[in-house]
This record gives sequence, structure tokens and C-alpha cells, in this order.
Amino acid sequence: MPPTLARLSAALVLLATSALAAATPTVLTLSADKPGPVINRNIYGQFSEHLGRCIYDGIWVGKDSPIPNTNGYSNEVLAALRDLHVPLLRWPGGCFADDYHWRDGIGPMDKRPSLYNANWGGVVENNHFGTHEFLDLCEMLGIEPYVCVNVGSGTVQEAKEWVEYMTSDATSPMANLRRANGRDKPWKVHFLAIGNEAWGCGGSMTPEFYADNFRRYNTYIRNYAARPEDAVYRVACGASGNDYQWTETLMKRVGQQMNGISLHSYTIPSGQWKTKGSATEFGIPQYYETLSQTLQMEEYVTRHSAIMDKYDPAKKVGLCVDEWGIWTDVEKGTNPAFLYQQNSMRDAILAALNLHIFQEHADRVVMANIAQMVNVLQAMLLTDKAKVVRTPTYHVFEMLSVHQGATALPVALSTPYLPAQTDVKIPNVSASASRDSAGRIHLSLVNTDAEHPVEVSCTVQGAALRQPTGRVLTADAVNAHNTFEAPDAVSPKAFSGATVSGNLLKIELPAMSVVVLEL
Ligand code: AHR
Repeated sequence: MPPTLARLSAALVLLATSALAAATPTVLTLSADKPGPVINRNIYGQFSEHLGRCIYDGIWVGKDSPIPNTNGYSNEVLAALRDLHVPLLRWPGGCFADDYHWRDGIGPMDKRPSLYNANWGGVVENNHFGTHEFLDLCEMLGIEPYVCVNVGSGTVQEAKEWVEYMTSDATSPMANLRRANGRDKPWKVHFLAIGNEAWGCGGSMTPEFYADNFRRYNTYIRNYAARPEDAVYRVACGASGNDYQWTETLMKRVGQQMNGISLHSYTIPSGQWKTKGSATEFGIPQYYETLSQTLQMEEYVTRHSAIMDKYDPAKKVGLCVDEWGIWTDVEKGTNPAFLYQQNSMRDAILAALNLHIFQEHADRVVMANIAQMVNVLQAMLLTDKAKVVRTPTYHVFEMLSVHQGATALPVALSTPYLPAQTDVKIPNVSASASRDSAGRIHLSLVNTDAEHPVEVSCTVQGAALRQPTGRVLTADAVNAHNTFEAPDAVSPKAFSGATVSGNLLKIELPAMSVVVLEL
């Protein structure tokens, strides 16, 4: 059985006192001879919404911009995304998706209507970034597109025609319209979300009403792809956080018609939406409080999966965590509707913990999309005109990308909880391992303790040990972050804290660190 933070033995709960924790070693056994499920690379997916400066001023600067660009896409952003190995990108929202009418974003740019972005600050949406610009970006970077259709304020016909426009190679009205707009061959669009947050900004629906709508949309969304494996993968709009009733209703009513169901869960440092907490002005107690909040993901994934198991024991339906990440107060002086926040070492730790949780549930979690890719919420990249900063979260995604598409290997971990008095107890160490297609074994580790290093004694079963190589991401403060003036303040370094003796590997994890080793 693959390990999870939650599956740590109940006995460890007793160890949640400072004295005992300090005295309890962290011991890990990696079973290289017991391969688990494949870790879907789409767990490392991203999300880009027409919100704030994610698309405009972020990914897209326009062909006439003084900012160096390729056909309107910022060169620096493109370069950073290439290095990140982004597998999947969700677009155009979010809440924006249920207000978006795709025909506004095709054809000559100067003829596209300028509209009011009602969800995000009422700013002008000039529709210069539309279907072609999104799908071309994905194609250029080798990213799988994940398109969210408008259920809240759109029509079935609109959604049906959009799919035809994007994916049909026939001589048909929509395919011909695409050709007239300069794109002969269809794009490959496998992943399709049928609406977003139908319980909220996507239409304030009941689960029953949404399930009926899902049936209608699903009926008319046709498969045009030549290869069966490219057929549309239909993601039903799922629950927020602990709304298990939503998942229960959807699985019961339309579990047979969907390929996936989504889950949204954000980490709010204070636990309060009104005053979420600063992205950079916080101390160690807030750091632990945030980790405690984020670790709720384990319970959400476990319990939604258990409901899915009831209706889908063969695990055909994937759980798609297509919005997650930390949501703090915006940076001072920025438009509150733009959701622009800095990104610190805390966020890097939190990202690694969540990626580990998704990997532990690789049998059910097939996709996750952190919100959002550029300049919004827990972003990979922050931009200021031509300048681009790679955030600590970017570095974690890049370091852990070795797990993408690899086979999960069980890790039995015995680690004490930190003494911090939080609602959800925080394990000192989190770990995840995999073997890639070239046979390389990777082990990623997180030391959640903000102040103390921790030694991990690791035994590897079923594979010979040699001196590992690796990298570490750490900082001297929980709120350390990268700025346009100091873009590499928090960045990965070579790791020399692992030593092998016989079949035992000793790993000295610095305080508040993420380490990835190749064994
Ligand atoms: O990511 C920001 C917003 O959060 C999305 O638009 C919405 O789906 C969610 O509530």
C-alpha cells in the first residue's frame, strides 16, 4: 500500500509533544521492488484564467509590445515554462469560463469585441487572447490543453460548436470557420471541463440541477478525434473542499457518463476569507498554521475518493484537483480583483506537501492544476514588463517534475509530528518516491520544521544503493522570497547531505527544505 501522511500509524499521534518528537528518529523504507500506480504527469498541471495579469501582461504581451515576444507571447515567460515541463494547462477559467463566449475570441483581433470582465475587477477584456492563441501556445510548448466550457451563462449549442471548431477535421461549418481563421488542421483537445464551480460563480446550481445539465452538455459534445485515446475526456464540475454531498450526488447521478470529476480546495493561511493573511509578512506560527490548513487536502482527497470508490470501484473516473494552492491577501497597492500575491518559501513547502499527497493517491488523482500559472495566486512566475521572476513554487514544481509519469514506489515513513499546536498535526517529514522510464529512482523529501534540521534513515529494498545526487530548496526564513531585484534569493542548490553506508542512506534535511534525490 502506498504511504500517505494520513496513513502514518495512529501510534504517532502520541508523539506530538516536543520532548518525544525530538527524541524520535525519522525512518523511511523505500520498496523499489513493489511498484505502485503510475503518477499521472498531469498532477503537475497549471491553470491560466483571464484574471488580473495572468494572460495579459503575463503570458501574452501582444505582437507590437516592446517586451521581447514570439507572436505575442512573452519570450521570458515561454523560456521559463519550457524549463518547467508543464504537462497540462487549464483555460479560460475559473469563474471567467462561465462568462466566456468563445466566438468573441476568434478572427481578426481588431474585429474582436472588447468586453467587461465582470468577475475580475470589471476591466476591459479585448479578447486578443482567444482559442487560437491558447491552443497555439499549448502546441508550441508541448502542453495538453484543458478547456473549460461555459455552462453557467452559455448554451449547449455554443459548447458543442466550440468542440467542433477546435477538434473536427470534417467539412463542417465550425471546422470551416476555423480554416477561414487560418488554422487548417484541428488541434488535439482531450481534456474538457463541463463548467466551473457550478455551485458558485458557475451558476449557483444545486448538485441535482448541475447533474442534469451535465447530461445535456455531455450528449452534444461529440468526439471528432481520429484516435480513441484522444476522445474528449469529460470532467464534471465537482465539489469545493469538504462538500462530500456534491460528490455523492454527482457520482450517483452521472458517475457513468463522466471521465473525471473536479475538486477545488484553496489554502487560506488564517482560515478566514476576509483577512487571509499576508504573502510575505508572517512568522513561524503563521507558517505552521498554513501547513496545517493545507494538509486538509489529504482528508479531502481520501474522503472524495472513498465516495467515488462506492460508485466506481474500478477507479475509471479520475479525481481532478483542478484548482488548488495558497490564497493570501493581495500585495499592497495592487488591484484587489487581480489576486496578485508574492510567493515565499512557505509556499514551496506547501506545494511539495500537496504534490506528495496527490502522488500518494495516484490510483485516483489523475490531474491537478495549481492556481495560477503567472501573476495570480500561487504563481510559478511573477512578471514586471520584460522581467520575470521564478518563484519558490516554480522551483518545487521543476525539482519534483522527475516524478511526472513515473511509477510510484511505496515509502513507509515513521516520523514524529511537530510540536506546533495546530488543528491538523504536521508530520516532520513527508516523502514520495518513483521510478522513471529510464529506471532511475527519485526520492523527494520535505522537512516541515522551520527551525531544525532532521536526519532521515532510509533503507532501500529491491535496489542497490549508490551515492545519490540531488538538489535542495531552502531559505533562512519562512517568508523568504524572490523579487525582481533578487530573483534567485530562493533557488535550488546542489545537495550534499546524503551519505551511504551499506544499504543504509542517511539524509540530513536542512530546516524548512525540499530535497529531491536520484538514488
Ligand atoms: O482561481 C481564482 C478563482 O477561484 C477561480 O476563478 C474560481 O474558479 C475559484 O473560485
